Amino acid sequence: MKRRFRSFAKVNLGLEVVGKLRSGYHELKTVFATLSLHDMLEIAETKSGVFVRSDHEGVPDDESNLAHRAAVLMQKLARRKSGVSIRIRKRIPIGGGLGGGSSNAAAVLRGLDLMWKLNLGPAGLLEAASSLGADVPYFLFGGLALGLGRGDRIHPLDIELRGKVLLVSGPAGLSTAAVFRRFATRRAAPGKSRIDLFLGNPPTDRVFRQSVGTLRNDLERAALQESPPLAELARLVRQVARRREAVHATMSGSGSSYFLLFEDATALTRAALDLRTAGVKSRRCSFVSRRAYERRFEVPRPWTSLKP
Ligand code: C5P
Repeated sequence: MKRRFRSFAKVNLGLEVVGKLRSGYHELKTVFATLSLHDMLEIAETKSGVFVRSDHEGVPDDESNLAHRAAVLMQKLARRKSGVSIRIRKRIPIGGGLGGGSSNAAAVLRGLDLMWKLNLGPAGLLEAASSLGADVPYFLFGGLALGLGRGDRIHPLDIELRGKVLLVSGPAGLSTAAVFRRFATRRAAPGKSRIDLFLGNPPTDRVFRQSVGTLRNDLERAALQESPPLAELARLVRQVARRREAVHATMSGSGSSYFLLFEDATALTRAALDLRTAGVKSRRCSFVSRRAYERRFEVPRPWTSLKP
């Protein structure tokens, strides 16, 4: 029996570094949002072991793949001897701050929870998700959510986000560790948390721009110092964002993707054309609400299996 699941990407609408944890990790306050951009996962039960394969050469097929480790954890949690075969159709850029690997891992947890009728749900899967990585717990919930701690303490937000998103991939190979190291050598930005202001003044039709547009990513400056090509891309993105009156334009996670947020589709189309003229590809997406995240998780049959 084979089942197929969507594994969505995320962006950080805002990300603040609020301190340092005893583990040495940085303590974050971040607002996550789900994008319609997604990978596809096909999960099948097999006789034994765990097998992962993807159509993208950058995706490892051994235990270094979080999806592989998620399957092993689920075998233990469910005390099952049966094996799991996972095929991944990769569409989310790798290492782009869009949470692709973490999303795949959460999709394996949620998918096997369904397939094996374990009924663990987000609460029952939380510990396993957290042990896999800081971004994995968010993907148990999806939609708009506040992340605290390492970003793994999730508080779903009942805010419906509108607007259209233009996603721009940055250069590959930007290291999260290097960005945090560089951030650590800078003094933290003083002032009131913009995320707190956002939560106290959530986006309604009237205050969409003032609310979402104020959010910032504290890691951006460090990422731009770390990668001159990214700094160049950021300049272009900001220029286009200003010209086309984007509501919001910032980097996701520790980089290297940027996203621009628009109130109307015409402005987004113009921005996409501006970027293309400058030789930069972009991708249109929309936000996925928590309800849609649940509803769209499994792909109902009929479909033909992923190759190979
Ligand atoms: O999450 P990931 O393992 O990719 O992080 C790589 C490194 O970035 C960590 O080992 C840590 O040094 C740094 N980091 C941090 N605080 C975070 C996340 C990552 O200091 N919240």
